[in-house]
Amino acid sequence: MTDGLPLQNLLLERDGAVAVVTVNRPQVLNALSFATLEELHRTFAALGDDRTARCIVLTGAGEKSFVAGADINELAVQSPVTGRERAQAGQRVFDAIENLGTPVIAAINGYALGGGCELAMACTIRIAADTAFLGQPEINLGLIPGYGGTQRLARIIGTGRALELLLTGDRVSAAEAFRLGLVNRVVPAAELMPAARTLAAAIAAKAPIAVRYILEAVHRGVSLPLAEAQSLEAALFGLVASTDDMREGTQAFLAKRTPSFKGT
Ligand code: COA
Repeated sequence: MTDGLPLQNLLLERDGAVAVVTVNRPQVLNALSFATLEELHRTFAALGDDRTARCIVLTGAGEKSFVAGADINELAVQSPVTGRERAQAGQRVFDAIENLGTPVIAAINGYALGGGCELAMACTIRIAADTAFLGQPEINLGLIPGYGGTQRLARIIGTGRALELLLTGDRVSAAEAFRLGLVNRVVPAAELMPAARTLAAAIAAKAPIAVRYILEAVHRGVSLPLAEAQSLEAALFGLVASTDDMREGTQAFLAKRTPSFKGT
């Protein structure tokens, strides 16, 4: 399924049409080392190319943390050049996740701080355990977010709320993150993975081309003027009308039966 190279920092599991990726460095609360970022990049690239993987769940190993940020050991020794390169590399990985064409559900099982919050924000949908905490604490390290956090946080929760979180570095509970609109829902910790898998399976059963076009319309459209964004929507609407799955979906409705989508 992936390029065959072994994964040192991630676990990859398949459950039918759902893939589960787990960041697996629990001894450092799943902090994102450069090597982990690289593994995320190639794993998600391979999953994006795999049309049988129709929805992905991303989580962290252990009960304490989703991802506790970039690896501070590496940040501590960065130079201006490596710092810039690191931010660009992280942005490339997170952009690739956001624009994969396959929905990614972040199952936030604990701390999602700094790069961990940025990673969750690059995902399509965020479900948090009631024990989770989210935040952008970079300011406490004399840093700023570098993996898209200043931009995605403001787009998801609005500039005023984003600036308060970014400037204080304060962590918010899952309940507060829900109130801010930063996570879609909060569930008891024990129900997190079942809830994420159930949602992933439900999305995986939808018409795959329509799923991809919805992702494209929303993600590309949001940075376009409304008229251009709606023109994109209309073009994708026209294109989806050429699919077998549209015929199947509409005919199944009229025949009062459950549709069976094939991705063509
Ligand atoms: N990078 C590297 N190591 C990290 C890390 C990170 N982002 N976050 C945690 N760790 C390591 C700790 O250094 C510690 O290692 P040790 O056992 O060798 O001492 C281990 O993970 C456990 O963390 P610890 O701090 O002991 O757990 P805690 O429960 O007391 O606190 C946090 C948890 C998440 C509040 C705390 O680890 C923290 O603030 N982490 C950094 C968060 C951050 O600033 N992220 C943004 C980075 S840009």
